[in-house]
Amino acid sequence: MGDPNSGARAEAGDREARGVHGDRVASVPSIARWKARNGARPLVMVTAYDYPSARIADDAGVDMILVGDSVAMAVLGMPDTLSVRVRDLVHHVAAVARAQPRALVVADLPWLSYHRGRRRAVEAAGKLVRAGAKAVKLEGGAERDVVITALKAAEIPVMGHLGLTPQSTHVFGGMVVQGKTVAAAEQLVADALALEAAGVFAIVLEGIPAPIAAVITERVSVPTIGIGAGPRCDGQVLVFHDVLGLSEGRRPRFVKTYAELGATAREALAAWSKDVVEGAFPDDAHAYRASDELAAWAASQLGEGARSAITSR
Ligand code: KIV
Repeated sequence: MGDPNSGARAEAGDREARGVHGDRVASVPSIARWKARNGARPLVMVTAYDYPSARIADDAGVDMILVGDSVAMAVLGMPDTLSVRVRDLVHHVAAVARAQPRALVVADLPWLSYHRGRRRAVEAAGKLVRAGAKAVKLEGGAERDVVITALKAAEIPVMGHLGLTPQSTHVFGGMVVQGKTVAAAEQLVADALALEAAGVFAIVLEGIPAPIAAVITERVSVPTIGIGAGPRCDGQVLVFHDVLGLSEGRRPRFVKTYAELGATAREALAAWSKDVVEGAFPDDAHAYRASDELAAWAASQLGEGARSAITSR
């Protein structure tokens, strides 16, 4: 592999102009103003956790790349998001940032990194920003106002996340759709308004009935980004591996898979493996040649069987 950064540098300006949407929105202030009710097209956010996936997502023209704590399941083979640490996210944010994406890079604050005081939260978020994130995302409602204020005071933009928040899986008794009663829906609306008042620039709405997401989207002035929250949000987010068919197991109802790259990759690797085992790879086209003099020397060093193999090439 060559220098991965040289390509990124050479093509960065090119990609600026190539986004499929044609209109650049990749800054926190521009995202914060992006409301469907003002005639804006939906925002597009996708997760990415490394250099190639960030390049692919950015070339596809997404507005935001989320280095989510879903890296735990999608990449690290963990059962849920609770085991992932700030240091893991820093590692993945840095890889994504090296792709120099046009899209806004948002990083998840992992579980327990913002639950134990403002100072720890700012330190954790600062590490993510130093690694290349332009904003951080945290889960929870009104109870997060103090920490959001502290992050904002440290000049770190914050994205909120409400509904089926995966870090609360044990509280919910599993990954269970939230907001299914009027009281629960009212609480979600109140939490969204509290997040807005605390100063978030956007809110992810996950795993809630579509009409509740529509109400929240109507009530708040910042954009809502839905995942399993129906079409009436200001934007949508999905996990990279789900969109591309790279995730294993049963996919949630809200996931739409646009390619089966896992199956394609398995077939390709099996084909290569078969070629290796059968001696069909590497062939001449995939090997370095030697001068006649060098080939003659190599042949003189080998036994009869190996020599005929070399001289026949
Ligand atoms: O980590 C993640 O992938 C997320 C999305 C589900 C919004 O937080």
